[in-house]
Amino acid sequence: MAPRAQSSDRGRFLVLDGIDGCGKSTQADGLARRLRLASGRVVQHLREPGSTALGEGLRELLLAREHPIGARAETLLFAAARAQMLEELVEPALARGEHVVCERFHPSTFAYQAVAGGLGEEAVLALLRGWAGSPEPDLVLWLDLPLERALERRGAASDRIERRDLDYQRAVARGYARYAELDPRLVRIDAAAAPAQVAAALDQEVARVLG
Ligand SMILES: Nc1ncnc2c1ncn2[C@@H]1O[C@H](COP(=O)(O)OP(=O)(O)OP(=O)(O)O)[C@@H](O)[C@H]1O
Ligand SMILES: [Mg+2]
Repeated sequence: MAPRAQSSDRGRFLVLDGIDGCGKSTQADGLARRLRLASGRVVQHLREPGSTALGEGLRELLLAREHPIGARAETLLFAAARAQMLEELVEPALARGEHVVCERFHPSTFAYQAVAGGLGEEAVLALLRGWAGSPEPDLVLWLDLPLERALERRGAASDRIERRDLDYQRAVARGYARYAELDPRLVRIDAAAAPAQVAAALDQEVARVLG
């Protein structure tokens, strides 16, 4: 798809994605702070699923441990949270000239639900593009970290999805690599480096889209 024509006043929509414990929250905090200082603009820091009232409610349902949720229902709930966030928060913020930094987006749904959940690549991509496809991010950064390193950083698993077995976590990790093959716009960042180095690599990519 051709990039959207963009006035320089419109904000930029930046996504950080990757497996549990790869450093998304650490880097999104830092990136949002640096962007506020450098641009003087409001910078929204969002997380998925969540950020809206509906999304936070769905997050609680999705991550709670007590009830079963099938793979298809799970995918639809993640997509619903994303659609609401895009409409309620992201588009209005970008139109006001604010930047948006969001933790997780399509690569997560693809890796967890399509690949690890076994729902199939095409079906999940069609859902995401059709029902949670707009506005599109200006930049999607994949914080790539080997699973073993992420498990060391992460500590004990706590929520319904983190507690799934190692085979599932391996499939999730493979899912991100597969997404990168399918979408050449995904930018891979080596997340094994020290936080300051990861931040410098992010800033370099973000500078390109702020242009
Ligand atoms: N580059 C890094 N090197 C070493 N440790 C790091 C690095 N980045 C983050 N950490 C640490 O790893 C842990 C996980 O980081 P963080 O919470 O940012 O990951 P996350 O991707 O947001 O995880 P989750 O998906 O579970 O929310 C934290 O304890 C954090 O301090
Ligand atoms: Mg986090």
